[in-house]
Amino acid sequence: MSNNINNTERFHSIVETVIERHRHRPGALLPVLHDIQEALGFIPSATVGQIAGGLNLSRAEVHGVISFYHDFRYAPGPQVRICMGEACQSMGSAALLSQATEILGDGVEPVYCLGNCACAPNIDISHAYHGRMSQEKLASLLAREVAA
Ligand code: FES
Repeated sequence: MSNNINNTERFHSIVETVIERHRHRPGALLPVLHDIQEALGFIPSATVGQIAGGLNLSRAEVHGVISFYHDFRYAPGPQVRICMGEACQSMGSAALLSQATEILGDGVEPVYCLGNCACAPNIDISHAYHGRMSQEKLASLLAREVAA
C-alpha cells in the first residue's frame, strides 16, 4: 500500500518535471508523452488528468493521443499484440490471445493483420515480430519478457 503511494507520488513528480520542460512549446503533448514513456516505461493512467491540466487540454484529448499511438501504453511491462486476422485465427491465435492475457493481464491487444499472413499465427512483443507462434513458444517468450 505505501509502495503504491510512493509510486504515485514519484509518477506525479516526474510528470510535473516533464510538463515544466515542455509546457511553453507549441504541440507540447507529444514530447511530454514521449518523455514520460521514456522515464517510466509507460504512462500511468493516474497522470492523464495532471497532463491534461498542465497543458490546458481535456483528458479526452490526452487519452485520444495515447490510444492512437502504439508506442504509448498505460501499463508497465511488455506490450503484446496478437494478430486476430483471418489467417492467424485459422491457425489458433485466439488461444494465444487468451494465454497472453492470462499471463500479463494488461498490455495485450488484438490487432487485425500484422502483414505476415504466410507465417500465421503472428504476434508482436514490444515491436519484435514472431511468426508461426505456438503456445509453448509464447509461454517461453513471455516468461523471458516478464523476467527482464
Ligand atoms: S492475418 Fe495475421 S498476419 Fe495477416
